[in-house]
Amino acid sequence: MFAARQTFGLFQKRAFSASASQASKVAVLGAAGGIGQPLSLLLKLNPRVSELALYDIRGGPGVAADLSHINTNSTVTGYEATPAGLKAALTGAEIVLIPAGVPRKPGMTRDDLFNTNASIVRDLAKAAAEASPDANILVISNPVNSTVPIVSEVFKAKGVYNPKRLFGVTTLDVVRASRFISQVKETDPANEAVPVVGGHSGVTIVPLLSQSNHPDIEGETRDALVNRIQFGGDEVVKAKDGAGSATLSMAMAGARFAESLLKAAQGEKGIVEPTFVESPLYKDQGVDFFASRVELGPNGVEKIHEVGKVSPYEEKLVEAALADLKKNIQKGRDFVAQNP
Ligand code: NAI
Repeated sequence: MFAARQTFGLFQKRAFSASASQASKVAVLGAAGGIGQPLSLLLKLNPRVSELALYDIRGGPGVAADLSHINTNSTVTGYEATPAGLKAALTGAEIVLIPAGVPRKPGMTRDDLFNTNASIVRDLAKAAAEASPDANILVISNPVNSTVPIVSEVFKAKGVYNPKRLFGVTTLDVVRASRFISQVKETDPANEAVPVVGGHSGVTIVPLLSQSNHPDIEGETRDALVNRIQFGGDEVVKAKDGAGSATLSMAMAGARFAESLLKAAQGEKGIVEPTFVESPLYKDQGVDFFASRVELGPNGVEKIHEVGKVSPYEEKLVEAALADLKKNIQKGRDFVAQNP
């Protein structure tokens, strides 16, 4: 069975004594892709990761061999594209990042990816429900608004769903928001934080400028900035001209989110990241998943923050987001019901 795996750990023995709770296995499914490769690189550089498991339908072992030469202490293992390889990659993982699937081409919405990516995510979720039911599952594959509900339905069907451990990665939206607002205001983006709530596509991305450092941004400047945050992904898709969507900035955002979860798991308090999770905030309106600021802890979701006070303009944005989210979530659920 071990023919299915190749381990490239130069330093099998950990140089510094890390306690068992700090030994963190992180798996990346789709590791050889545009996001998967730089994401895996950043995870290899993260001292909180002790074991990196890379899986892809093609190229996983090659990426692993390459990364394994980097002189950080973690082991990197590339798994063969077989069910046994996938199972071995997942077993024992504390975090599973899923950037597997096709990206957008110019003119496409994230929803246009549904037909291809829904079944990819469903099948990977089935494997994770069996091999790593207690892991934190971080869904990057689009459309996130639908792929996260797909994972929840698969886990429910297997009797292992824990809403505290399922996350849609929306970090890139807040990364973009802080960068774009810093360009408008000529500030350092490191000092900017713009809460972004809702979901992860078009109008479901709702930046709350009223809660940023610059609630004074109004009128056309505000409209243009909100639009840029909502459709920033399109800038990259257009510039790449058919070669895909955001990969490098997404890798940074995914690595940041994984790092936050690891910090929280290792006992750090007050770690808050915006993320798309099963949420009570709009359940009364039939929207079961919603992105807002979420405090992370050793058990995953610790506390879901309220959206808070918003301007009348933002209230309208939230309303528009809810209408789309409801449809996107149902689409994911229907897919699993019809294609179990
Ligand atoms: P890519 O095409 O470069 O890479 C995808 C990788 O997934 C490929 O290596 C492919 O072999 C692999 N793959 C396909 N089916 C698989 C399976 N069943 N099991 C394991 N691996 C499989 O695409 P890229 O640019 O890396 O994007 C990946 C996904 O991330 C897309 O759906 C894209 O829309 C999404 N994305 C999400 C963002 C977010 O903010 N959440 C931002 C940017 C992209």
